[in-house]
Amino acid sequence: MAGATGYLGKYAVRAFKRRGYWVRALTRSAEGLAEPGPFSAPAIGAGEVDEVFVGEATRPESLEGLVDDSIDVVFSSIGISRQRDGLTFEQVDHQANKNLIDQCAGRAIQRFTYVSMLGAEQIADLAITRAHEAVVRDLENAGLPHTIVRPSGYFSDMGAVLDMARRGRVLLVGEGNNRFNPIHGHDLAEVCVDASEGEAAVVEAGGPETLSQRDLAAIAFDVVGKPVKLTVLPAWLCNGLVKGIGLLSEQFGDLAEFIVRSGEVDGVGPVRGRITVREYFEALEAGRADVPLDATSAG
Ligand SMILES: NC(=O)c1ccc[n+]([C@@H]2O[C@H](COP(=O)([O-])OP(=O)(O)OC[C@H]3O[C@@H](n4cnc5c(N)ncnc54)[C@H](OP(=O)(O)O)[C@@H]3O)[C@@H](O)[C@H]2O)c1
Repeated sequence: MAGATGYLGKYAVRAFKRRGYWVRALTRSAEGLAEPGPFSAPAIGAGEVDEVFVGEATRPESLEGLVDDSIDVVFSSIGISRQRDGLTFEQVDHQANKNLIDQCAGRAIQRFTYVSMLGAEQIADLAITRAHEAVVRDLENAGLPHTIVRPSGYFSDMGAVLDMARRGRVLLVGEGNNRFNPIHGHDLAEVCVDASEGEAAVVEAGGPETLSQRDLAAIAFDVVGKPVKLTVLPAWLCNGLVKGIGLLSEQFGDLAEFIVRSGEVDGVGPVRGRITVREYFEALEAGRADVPLDATSAG
Protein backbone atom coordinates (compact mmCIF):
# COMPACT_ATOMS: atom_id res chain seq x y z
CA MET A 1 0.00 0.00 0.00
CA ALA A 2 1.51 3.26 -1.17
CA GLY A 3 0.18 6.57 0.10
CA ALA A 4 -0.44 4.85 3.45
CA THR A 5 0.42 7.95 5.48
CA GLY A 6 -2.10 10.12 3.62
CA TYR A 7 -5.74 10.90 4.35
CA LEU A 8 -7.23 8.16 2.17
CA GLY A 9 -4.27 5.82 2.65
CA LYS A 10 -4.72 5.53 6.41
CA TYR A 11 -8.36 4.53 6.07
CA ALA A 12 -7.40 2.20 3.21
CA VAL A 13 -4.74 0.39 5.29
CA ARG A 14 -7.41 -0.26 7.92
CA ALA A 15 -9.97 -1.37 5.32
CA PHE A 16 -7.65 -3.88 3.61
CA LYS A 17 -6.58 -5.23 7.00
CA ARG A 18 -10.21 -5.53 8.14
CA ARG A 19 -10.96 -7.53 5.00
CA GLY A 20 -8.26 -10.01 5.95
CA TYR A 21 -5.31 -8.90 3.83
CA TRP A 22 -1.69 -9.13 4.94
CA VAL A 23 -0.62 -5.50 4.51
CA ARG A 24 2.79 -4.06 3.65
CA ALA A 25 2.69 -0.27 3.88
CA LEU A 26 5.17 1.89 2.01
CA THR A 27 5.98 5.07 3.87
CA ARG A 28 8.64 7.72 4.06
CA SER A 29 8.09 7.85 7.80
CA ALA A 30 7.04 4.99 10.11
CA GLU A 31 6.26 7.67 12.73
CA GLY A 32 3.91 9.42 10.26
CA LEU A 33 1.95 6.21 9.89
CA ALA A 34 1.58 5.81 13.65
CA GLU A 35 0.31 9.37 14.17
CA PRO A 36 -3.22 10.60 13.40
CA GLY A 37 -3.34 12.71 10.22
CA PRO A 38 -5.21 15.96 9.62
CA PHE A 39 -9.04 15.91 9.43
CA SER A 40 -9.54 12.68 11.37
CA ALA A 41 -7.25 10.40 9.33
CA PRO A 42 -6.56 7.64 11.88
CA ALA A 43 -3.26 6.66 13.44
CA ILE A 44 -2.22 3.21 12.23
CA GLY A 45 -1.35 1.11 15.24
CA ALA A 46 1.17 -1.72 15.29
CA GLY A 47 -1.55 -4.39 14.90
CA GLU A 48 -3.10 -2.68 11.86
CA VAL A 49 -0.23 -3.22 9.46
CA ASP A 50 1.87 -6.33 8.99
CA GLU A 51 5.01 -4.74 7.63
CA VAL A 52 6.23 -1.18 7.27
CA PHE A 53 8.53 -0.65 4.30
CA VAL A 54 10.43 2.62 4.55
CA GLY A 55 11.14 4.04 1.11
CA GLU A 56 10.63 7.12 -1.01
CA ALA A 57 8.51 6.46 -4.08
CA THR A 58 10.22 9.24 -6.04
CA ARG A 59 13.56 7.40 -5.59
CA PRO A 60 13.29 4.01 -7.37
CA GLU A 61 16.45 2.67 -5.72
CA SER A 62 14.69 2.92 -2.34
CA LEU A 63 11.86 0.65 -3.55
CA GLU A 64 13.92 -2.47 -4.27
CA GLY A 65 12.17 -5.43 -2.62
CA LEU A 66 8.90 -3.57 -2.06
CA VAL A 67 6.91 -5.75 -4.48
CA ASP A 68 7.84 -9.41 -4.20
CA ASP A 69 6.04 -12.64 -5.08
CA SER A 70 4.01 -12.48 -1.85
CA ILE A 71 2.13 -9.41 -3.07
CA ASP A 72 -1.22 -9.89 -4.85
CA VAL A 73 -2.58 -6.35 -4.85
CA VAL A 74 -0.80 -3.03 -5.15
CA PHE A 75 -2.75 0.04 -4.05
CA SER A 76 -1.57 3.59 -4.55
CA SER A 77 -3.02 6.89 -3.41
CA ILE A 78 0.32 8.69 -3.72
CA GLY A 79 -0.10 12.26 -4.87
CA ILE A 80 0.42 15.85 -3.81
CA SER A 81 -2.57 17.34 -2.02
CA ARG A 82 -0.69 19.88 0.09
CA GLN A 83 2.58 21.11 -1.35
CA ARG A 84 5.42 20.43 1.12
CA ASP A 85 8.38 19.05 -0.76
CA GLY A 86 8.81 21.55 -3.60
CA LEU A 87 8.22 18.75 -6.11
CA THR A 88 5.95 18.90 -9.16
CA PHE A 89 2.84 16.82 -9.91
CA GLU A 90 4.89 15.20 -12.68
CA GLN A 91 7.57 14.15 -10.19
CA VAL A 92 5.19 12.79 -7.54
CA ASP A 93 1.72 12.03 -8.94
CA HIS A 94 3.18 10.57 -12.13
CA GLN A 95 6.78 9.51 -11.66
CA ALA A 96 6.49 8.11 -8.12
CA ASN A 97 3.56 5.96 -9.24
CA LYS A 98 5.47 4.95 -12.40
CA ASN A 99 8.29 3.78 -10.12
CA LEU A 100 5.79 1.57 -8.28
CA ILE A 101 4.49 0.17 -11.57
CA ASP A 102 8.07 -0.62 -12.60
CA GLN A 103 8.49 -2.58 -9.35
CA CYS A 104 5.63 -4.85 -10.48
CA ALA A 105 7.40 -5.97 -13.68
CA GLY A 106 7.63 -9.74 -13.86
CA ARG A 107 5.49 -10.23 -10.74
CA ALA A 108 2.15 -12.05 -10.65
CA ILE A 109 0.20 -9.01 -9.47
CA GLN A 110 -3.54 -9.68 -9.53
CA ARG A 111 -4.52 -6.01 -9.45
CA PHE A 112 -2.98 -2.55 -9.27
CA THR A 113 -5.53 -0.15 -7.82
CA TYR A 114 -4.72 3.46 -8.49
CA VAL A 115 -6.60 6.44 -7.08
CA SER A 116 -7.04 9.21 -9.64
CA MET A 117 -9.84 11.79 -9.76
CA LEU A 118 -13.40 12.18 -11.00
CA GLY A 119 -14.09 14.43 -13.99
CA ALA A 120 -10.50 14.51 -15.21
CA GLU A 121 -11.72 15.24 -18.73
CA GLN A 122 -13.04 18.65 -17.58
CA ILE A 123 -9.62 19.77 -16.36
CA ALA A 124 -7.46 17.72 -18.72
CA ASP A 125 -5.00 20.57 -19.36
CA LEU A 126 -3.90 20.92 -15.71
CA ALA A 127 -0.54 19.59 -14.53
CA ILE A 128 -2.17 17.40 -11.85
CA THR A 129 -4.57 15.83 -14.35
CA ARG A 130 -1.84 15.21 -16.93
CA ALA A 131 0.20 13.46 -14.22
CA HIS A 132 -2.71 11.29 -13.03
CA GLU A 133 -3.68 10.31 -16.58
CA ALA A 134 -0.06 9.49 -17.43
CA VAL A 135 -0.19 6.88 -14.63
CA VAL A 136 -3.30 5.37 -16.23
CA ARG A 137 -1.42 5.09 -19.55
CA ASP A 138 1.61 3.57 -17.79
CA LEU A 139 -0.62 0.92 -16.20
CA GLU A 140 -2.12 0.09 -19.61
CA ASN A 141 1.32 -0.07 -21.21
CA ALA A 142 2.67 -2.29 -18.41
CA GLY A 143 -0.10 -4.81 -19.12
CA LEU A 144 -0.96 -5.03 -15.42
CA PRO A 145 -4.54 -5.86 -14.41
CA HIS A 146 -5.62 -2.56 -12.96
CA THR A 147 -8.53 -0.51 -11.65
CA ILE A 148 -8.67 3.26 -11.61
CA VAL A 149 -10.70 4.65 -8.72
CA ARG A 150 -12.12 8.07 -9.57
CA PRO A 151 -13.49 9.79 -6.45
CA SER A 152 -15.26 13.08 -5.91
CA GLY A 153 -13.83 15.42 -3.21
CA TYR A 154 -12.64 14.02 0.11
CA PHE A 155 -13.95 14.96 3.54
CA SER A 156 -10.41 16.15 4.35
CA ASP A 157 -11.04 19.15 2.10
CA MET A 158 -14.48 19.65 3.69
CA GLY A 159 -12.82 19.85 7.12
CA ALA A 160 -11.03 22.98 5.94
CA VAL A 161 -14.46 24.60 5.39
CA LEU A 162 -15.50 23.72 8.95
CA ASP A 163 -12.31 25.36 10.23
CA MET A 164 -13.17 28.56 8.31
CA ALA A 165 -16.76 28.52 9.65
CA ARG A 166 -15.40 28.25 13.19
CA ARG A 167 -13.40 31.42 12.50
CA GLY A 168 -16.63 33.10 11.30
CA ARG A 169 -16.13 33.42 7.53
CA VAL A 170 -15.86 30.96 4.65
CA LEU A 171 -13.88 31.86 1.55
CA LEU A 172 -15.45 30.70 -1.71
CA VAL A 173 -13.21 30.21 -4.70
CA GLY A 174 -15.43 31.33 -7.60
CA GLU A 175 -19.21 31.67 -7.22
CA GLY A 176 -19.43 28.40 -5.24
CA ASN A 177 -22.33 26.98 -7.24
CA ASN A 178 -20.53 23.98 -8.72
CA ARG A 179 -21.85 20.67 -7.43
CA PHE A 180 -20.07 17.65 -6.04
CA ASN A 181 -20.72 14.74 -3.68
CA PRO A 182 -17.83 14.49 -1.25
CA ILE A 183 -16.93 11.17 0.33
CA HIS A 184 -15.49 10.22 3.73
CA GLY A 185 -12.11 8.44 3.67
CA HIS A 186 -13.59 5.44 5.47
CA ASP A 187 -16.29 4.97 2.83
CA LEU A 188 -13.85 5.51 -0.04
CA ALA A 189 -11.42 3.01 1.47
CA GLU A 190 -14.15 0.35 1.32
CA VAL A 191 -14.73 1.26 -2.34
CA CYS A 192 -10.99 0.81 -2.95
CA VAL A 193 -10.97 -2.70 -1.46
CA ASP A 194 -14.06 -3.64 -3.50
CA ALA A 195 -12.37 -2.23 -6.60
CA SER A 196 -9.26 -4.29 -5.90
CA GLU A 197 -11.35 -7.44 -5.71
CA GLY A 198 -13.44 -6.68 -8.81
CA GLU A 199 -12.79 -6.65 -12.52
CA ALA A 200 -13.93 -3.11 -13.39
CA ALA A 201 -11.35 -0.97 -15.17
CA VAL A 202 -12.78 2.22 -13.67
CA VAL A 203 -14.71 2.77 -10.44
CA GLU A 204 -16.22 6.21 -9.88
CA ALA A 205 -17.34 7.09 -6.37
CA GLY A 206 -18.95 9.89 -4.41
CA GLY A 207 -20.67 10.43 -1.10
CA PRO A 208 -24.38 10.36 -0.24
CA GLU A 209 -25.22 14.04 -0.85
CA THR A 210 -24.71 16.36 -3.80
CA LEU A 211 -23.83 19.83 -2.55
CA SER A 212 -22.54 23.13 -3.83
CA GLN A 213 -19.71 24.94 -2.02
CA ARG A 214 -22.42 27.30 -0.70
CA ASP A 215 -24.47 24.36 0.67
CA LEU A 216 -21.36 23.00 2.33
CA ALA A 217 -20.58 26.34 3.96
CA ALA A 218 -24.21 26.61 5.19
CA ILE A 219 -23.93 23.18 6.87
CA ALA A 220 -20.64 24.16 8.48
CA PHE A 221 -22.07 27.45 9.87
CA ASP A 222 -25.17 25.64 11.12
CA VAL A 223 -23.07 23.04 12.94
CA VAL A 224 -20.84 25.64 14.62
CA GLY A 225 -23.89 27.82 15.42
CA LYS A 226 -22.71 30.95 13.59
CA PRO A 227 -24.43 33.10 10.94
CA VAL A 228 -23.48 32.43 7.32
CA LYS A 229 -20.73 34.83 6.21
CA LEU A 230 -19.12 34.25 2.84
CA THR A 231 -16.33 35.99 0.99
CA VAL A 232 -16.55 35.26 -2.72
CA LEU A 233 -13.28 35.42 -4.63
CA PRO A 234 -14.52 35.95 -8.21
CA ALA A 235 -13.08 33.80 -10.98
CA TRP A 236 -11.22 36.72 -12.64
CA LEU A 237 -9.46 37.51 -9.34
CA CYS A 238 -8.64 33.84 -8.63
CA ASN A 239 -7.21 33.40 -12.13
CA GLY A 240 -5.07 36.51 -11.68
CA LEU A 241 -3.81 35.21 -8.32
CA VAL A 242 -3.01 31.83 -9.89
CA LYS A 243 -0.90 33.52 -12.57
CA GLY A 244 0.95 35.53 -9.92
CA ILE A 245 1.61 32.48 -7.74
CA GLY A 246 2.74 30.55 -10.84
CA LEU A 247 5.36 33.22 -11.58
CA LEU A 248 6.78 32.81 -8.06
CA SER A 249 6.61 28.99 -7.92
CA GLU A 250 5.61 26.46 -10.59
CA GLN A 251 4.65 23.93 -7.89
CA PHE A 252 2.38 26.24 -5.88
CA GLY A 253 1.01 27.76 -9.11
CA ASP A 254 -0.05 24.31 -10.39
CA LEU A 255 -1.72 23.49 -7.06
CA ALA A 256 -3.49 26.88 -6.93
CA GLU A 257 -4.69 26.45 -10.52
CA PHE A 258 -6.13 23.04 -9.60
CA ILE A 259 -7.96 24.46 -6.57
CA VAL A 260 -9.45 27.29 -8.63
CA ARG A 261 -10.38 25.23 -11.70
CA SER A 262 -11.85 22.34 -9.71
CA GLY A 263 -14.08 24.92 -7.99
CA GLU A 264 -15.56 25.77 -11.39
CA VAL A 265 -16.62 22.28 -12.53
CA ASP A 266 -19.11 19.73 -11.21
CA GLY A 267 -17.84 16.44 -9.77
CA VAL A 268 -20.73 14.11 -8.97
CA GLY A 269 -20.02 10.39 -8.89
CA PRO A 270 -22.17 7.33 -8.21
CA VAL A 271 -23.17 7.27 -4.54
CA ARG A 272 -20.82 4.85 -2.78
CA GLY A 273 -20.44 6.55 0.60
CA ARG A 274 -22.88 6.62 3.51
CA ILE A 275 -21.43 9.16 5.91
CA THR A 276 -22.84 12.66 5.50
CA VAL A 277 -20.89 15.89 5.80
CA ARG A 278 -23.21 17.00 8.61
CA GLU A 279 -22.49 13.81 10.63
CA TYR A 280 -18.78 14.40 10.09
CA PHE A 281 -18.89 18.10 11.03
CA GLU A 282 -21.01 17.36 14.11
CA ALA A 283 -18.51 14.73 15.26
CA LEU A 284 -15.57 17.14 14.85
CA GLU A 285 -17.48 19.97 16.53
CA ALA A 286 -18.28 17.67 19.48
CA GLY A 287 -14.53 17.08 19.86
CA ARG A 288 -14.66 13.48 18.66
CA ALA A 289 -11.87 12.12 16.48
CA ASP A 290 -14.31 10.95 13.79
CA VAL A 291 -17.87 9.77 13.21
CA PRO A 292 -18.70 6.37 14.78
CA LEU A 293 -17.48 4.47 11.74
CA ASP A 294 -18.84 1.00 12.30
CA ALA A 295 -22.34 2.22 13.09
CA THR A 296 -22.55 4.55 10.09
CA SER A 297 -20.77 2.69 7.38
CA ALA A 298 -20.62 -0.77 5.90
CA GLY A 299 -17.22 -1.57 7.41
N1 LIG B 1 -8.51 15.52 -1.78
C1 LIG B 1 -9.45 15.26 -2.67
O1 LIG B 1 -10.56 15.78 -2.59
C2 LIG B 1 -9.15 14.29 -3.80
C3 LIG B 1 -10.17 13.99 -4.70
C4 LIG B 1 -9.90 13.06 -5.72
C5 LIG B 1 -8.65 12.49 -5.83
N2 LIG B 1 -7.67 12.82 -4.95
C6 LIG B 1 -6.37 12.16 -5.09
O2 LIG B 1 -6.27 11.14 -4.12
C7 LIG B 1 -4.89 10.90 -3.80
C8 LIG B 1 -4.74 10.81 -2.29
O3 LIG B 1 -5.22 11.99 -1.67
P1 LIG B 1 -5.01 12.22 -0.10
O4 LIG B 1 -5.89 13.34 0.30
O5 LIG B 1 -5.06 10.92 0.62
O6 LIG B 1 -3.53 12.80 -0.13
P2 LIG B 1 -2.50 13.01 1.08
O7 LIG B 1 -3.18 12.92 2.39
O8 LIG B 1 -1.71 14.23 0.80
O9 LIG B 1 -1.56 11.72 0.93
C9 LIG B 1 -0.81 11.54 -0.24
C10 LIG B 1 0.21 10.44 -0.08
O10 LIG B 1 1.22 10.68 -1.07
C11 LIG B 1 2.48 10.71 -0.43
N3 LIG B 1 3.42 11.67 -1.01
C12 LIG B 1 3.21 12.97 -1.23
N4 LIG B 1 4.33 13.52 -1.72
C13 LIG B 1 5.27 12.55 -1.77
C14 LIG B 1 6.64 12.49 -2.15
N5 LIG B 1 7.28 13.57 -2.56
N6 LIG B 1 7.28 11.30 -2.07
C15 LIG B 1 6.63 10.20 -1.62
N7 LIG B 1 5.34 10.18 -1.22
C16 LIG B 1 4.68 11.35 -1.31
C17 LIG B 1 2.19 11.14 1.00
O11 LIG B 1 3.25 10.74 1.83
P3 LIG B 1 3.63 11.63 3.13
O12 LIG B 1 2.45 11.44 4.07
O13 LIG B 1 4.89 11.01 3.60
O14 LIG B 1 3.78 13.03 2.65
C18 LIG B 1 0.90 10.42 1.28
O15 LIG B 1 1.13 9.10 1.67
C19 LIG B 1 -4.10 12.05 -4.44
O16 LIG B 1 -3.47 11.58 -5.61
C20 LIG B 1 -5.17 13.06 -4.81
O17 LIG B 1 -4.84 13.80 -5.97
C21 LIG B 1 -7.91 13.69 -3.93
